[in-house]
Amino acid sequence: MDFLSPSTFSNYHFIFTALALFISGLIFILSRKKSNSKKLNLPPGPPGYPVVGNLFQVARSGKPFFQYVRELIPIYGPIMTLKMGTRTMIIISSADLAKEALIEKGQVFASRPRENPTRTIFSCDKFTVNAALYGPVWRSLRRNMVQNMLSATRLKEFRKARDMAMDTLIERLKLEAASNEGLVWVLKNARFAVFCILLAMCFGVEMDEKIIESIDQMMKTVLIVLDPRLDDYLPLLSPFFSKQRKRVQEVRKEQIDTLVPLIEKRRSAIQNPGSDLTAASFSYLDTLFDLKIEGRKSSPSNAEIVTLCSEFLNGGTDTTGTAIEWAIARMIENPKIQLRLYDEIRSTVGEKKVDEKDVETMPYLNAVVKELLRKHPPTYFSLTHAVVEPAKLAGYDVPTDANVEFFLPGISEDPKLWSDPEKFDPDRFFAGREDADITGVTGVKMMPFGVGRRICPGLSMATVHVNLMLARMVQEFEWSGYPDNGEVDFSEKLEFTVVMKNSLRAKIKPRA
Ligand code: HEM
Repeated sequence: MDFLSPSTFSNYHFIFTALALFISGLIFILSRKKSNSKKLNLPPGPPGYPVVGNLFQVARSGKPFFQYVRELIPIYGPIMTLKMGTRTMIIISSADLAKEALIEKGQVFASRPRENPTRTIFSCDKFTVNAALYGPVWRSLRRNMVQNMLSATRLKEFRKARDMAMDTLIERLKLEAASNEGLVWVLKNARFAVFCILLAMCFGVEMDEKIIESIDQMMKTVLIVLDPRLDDYLPLLSPFFSKQRKRVQEVRKEQIDTLVPLIEKRRSAIQNPGSDLTAASFSYLDTLFDLKIEGRKSSPSNAEIVTLCSEFLNGGTDTTGTAIEWAIARMIENPKIQLRLYDEIRSTVGEKKVDEKDVETMPYLNAVVKELLRKHPPTYFSLTHAVVEPAKLAGYDVPTDANVEFFLPGISEDPKLWSDPEKFDPDRFFAGREDADITGVTGVKMMPFGVGRRICPGLSMATVHVNLMLARMVQEFEWSGYPDNGEVDFSEKLEFTVVMKNSLRAKIKPRA
């Protein structure tokens, strides 16, 4: 996902700290008159330094940002402020406040903040569904993605791509296990499977594994350069980052050079029907070539199409792969849950391969996946929101230039909302003890896809992917830990999404 929330900031050297403090002091003195933040009644937060605010406290804590925030919540409460250099970050971590902001005041909280220079380049100046300001461009792009790609009817059309990707996944797992004494890497294989589906939907042209891997590699490089830098928070330091800025330009060029040939191949296949026999009947690209954008005369340029396709690929790859990695970890930790799931699959489909129609009728599987998304939301922060006009939340001011963040585990692990929130327990949903509307329409208790106007448009497709992939993996193999009998380590780390700190390697045994 090329639009994830705050990173660890842990790689910066002490010299930058000293330098930054010095320069910041200077800016502070020069810009004191302009500051109006004193007049605002911002939510509470840890005291910071002039200008740099809490930036270096976060950086030097050595903790992932989500951990730093988690530890502050008991001190400052469900709405707090962190000053990250020139950016004011307001962090919300309760269901009530998320509901007030995203549902009751949904229109006001539906925008995005200004981008840093790197993101401006990769988003073609906010020309994506996820980065667009709340307004006509966002409406046009989102409507196109939802109606023309992610509607129930469209989703059905890509069933073949999903089936193929699932078969390839099982084959890859078998091959990897055969040459590694039964061991396989989970995240890498799950990511690859979902990436293949999204590529097929996006470009509608056939690609061999080598090309797919090279595109994947390029996308990863993009995510790396998109990681926030110190100068994003303290723009005055940007002269020290000229090498990184050059690298950003190179990677953007590489992205364009890799994807434009695929775009042109599809364009020509559409213009000359029958010329490419491998071309699919429909793809996301087809919806973009002549897309009408409210308030704009021209259809998207090639560079803009590259950006929109990258958004489509990134939105669903790491998120879904991550969900599967945690799911398998939980299956290994709880062999009884795994067995119960396997029994449900067998009693539903018998000997045949489980498919996406079947998974809709499997209540235990659905409960496992819901519990998975409660306990392990792939991103711990929703995408950053911004208000369209100065607003109030819980009596505090929310200015238009603030980054409004929603800390999702604060909601889905709140003991006031959940019994035993620490426990991974699909039965809470299966046995009807507890429930939650994942879309937030009838209430907010967990929001792994966000809620309100900016809710993830890929929600339905992602749910199909996670259910189907988990069902196929459990149907084909019995999963156990490595080393044998070793406990699964559930430590987390931030890597675009929140993945397992020690990437999961598991032992598989084909089911008899
Ligand atoms: C398990 C998988 C997924 C998870 C957990 C997830 C999660 C999220 C979250 C938390 C947001 C932010 C909502 C907000 O701003 O409040 C989001 C937005 C978004 N997601 Fe997903 N997502 C997943 C899969 C997908 C897929 C498969 C796609 C499309 C191919 C997708 C495309 C998007 C887009 C375009 C947005 C921006 C929406 C907007 O700003 O209007 N996501 N997603």
